[in-house]
Amino acid sequence: MAYPDYMRRSIEVVEETRDSRIGKEFPRMTPEEREEVLREYHPDYREGAKRRLRIGPNKGDLMPHEVADLLEAHPLVTPEEIDLSDIYYDVDVLVIGGGGAGLSAALLATESGVERDRVLLVTKLRLGDSNSKMSQGGIQAADGPDDSPVLHFLDVMGGGHFANDPDLVEVLVKEAPDVIRWHEELGVIYDKNPDGSMVLASGGGTCRRRMHSCKDYTGLEITRVLMDEFRNREIPLAEFTSAVELITDDRGAVAGAVLYNMETEEYYVARAKATILATGGYGRLHIQGFETTNHYGATGDGIVLAYHVGARLRDLDATQYHPTGAAYPEQIVGQLCTEKLRTHGAQPVNRDGELFVHPLEPRDVEAAAIIRECYGRGKGIVTPTGMRGVWLDTPLIDIIHGEGTIERRFAAMLRQYNRFGIDIRKEPILVFPTLHYQNGGVAINVRAETSVPGLFAAGEVSGGVHGKNRLMGNSQLELYVFGRRAGRYAAEYARKTRLGRLTLDHVLRYERWLKEAGIETNRRAPILLPEYRGERVLTHRIRLF
Ligand code: FUM
Repeated sequence: MAYPDYMRRSIEVVEETRDSRIGKEFPRMTPEEREEVLREYHPDYREGAKRRLRIGPNKGDLMPHEVADLLEAHPLVTPEEIDLSDIYYDVDVLVIGGGGAGLSAALLATESGVERDRVLLVTKLRLGDSNSKMSQGGIQAADGPDDSPVLHFLDVMGGGHFANDPDLVEVLVKEAPDVIRWHEELGVIYDKNPDGSMVLASGGGTCRRRMHSCKDYTGLEITRVLMDEFRNREIPLAEFTSAVELITDDRGAVAGAVLYNMETEEYYVARAKATILATGGYGRLHIQGFETTNHYGATGDGIVLAYHVGARLRDLDATQYHPTGAAYPEQIVGQLCTEKLRTHGAQPVNRDGELFVHPLEPRDVEAAAIIRECYGRGKGIVTPTGMRGVWLDTPLIDIIHGEGTIERRFAAMLRQYNRFGIDIRKEPILVFPTLHYQNGGVAINVRAETSVPGLFAAGEVSGGVHGKNRLMGNSQLELYVFGRRAGRYAAEYARKTRLGRLTLDHVLRYERWLKEAGIETNRRAPILLPEYRGERVLTHRIRLF
């Protein structure tokens, strides 16, 4: 399926202006211009898109309705349904989630003194099924000759609108080079120059080239290696098994989870001295009707479980919309078109072939500028199914860097579009912002501890590292920095812990909170899998305008 004629005619305009755009730098926005475009066009700033939470420790915090709906829903199980004396798994460290953070946590727990068979990793799909695996562009680490963790720190804080927890950011940037070394020791094959040095690329909002990559399937390569390591060490694993509720002991510390076998539909009790949430984010909630880059399992389960036991959340008012999701063809709408295309020279241009924004503004600003071009200035292209988008002029990459660059560096993107008769080396692609990342989450400290004893969190489920806006390549990094820390500190905690009597009293407390707040609903959470029946099917119902 190539482009229909009317889109081809717009592509011809893009081709006509291409030569004049080569080497042209669109000026970066001033802070005031950034503020303005965010305020007027970023979905986070849209009036009516959020509400204040009515219960729990974060009562009064603003968050998207879709997230508040989950936190103001009834728990999935009641204490009467679960026999807590029937303990099926009894471990020191329970890891919930099988992506990069969960794998790293399990590996480090076993390296930190916990017997292999005293660790259990549960995952609601298959091991590795996660956003971690789908990450394309790269992982940041300041190990280049002209770079430093200090510069990395400043970029992360600036990108996050200085709302980040600086202690978490310090750990993130200082441990980054060590994470890359760890990966290489385990067998990750990073892109290298002929002299053996790392290929380093820039990213939106970064002042140095520090993006390490494995072509454009960085997450797939890293997850492949971590999964191999996990399986080689024979760490116990339960696949197709969700955590539907945490368990506490009579001191209020987290003491494991109620698990649900997605195939047999049976509940199991897992008692654990330390529990690590590594459940990822909420991209499949399709906030404000946006399409998503996210994995099928990204339904925000972790924040719900944590909130039921009273853990503090943070920064859930900020959602990340990746500037360049596919807007055409229909079969791949919402899927990621990596930022790395722009770091290699692909320019966002409107239907008249005009460059309208610097290609590497911070993500939220870049996304807002694309929305403005499509909806504010009316200079987007409308697809046959009603999506709007702008062109990302990918042929520039081979023109700038030499023929073969796209094939070498963007093998996954080339293949993704080839399946639909589009050759990204010769034709631009149509893009529009897509829901990509949960910027906030469960509040943690540098030991990956949440505010509830016995509960640790790492990766996208956690909050604080990225403030209000994450930069490219820092989520991959966060997975391993804080996944490893969670494993290490959970092991240390488990060594010192004696569990009391198991309870689900917090479920009753949660029901009381709902009742006292006057919340009447038949919603239940966590939802475990997204719902695609009904009105969501084949609509592009963005509620922005
Ligand atoms: O554009 C990308 O490749 C996405 C990377 C990220 O979210 O870190």
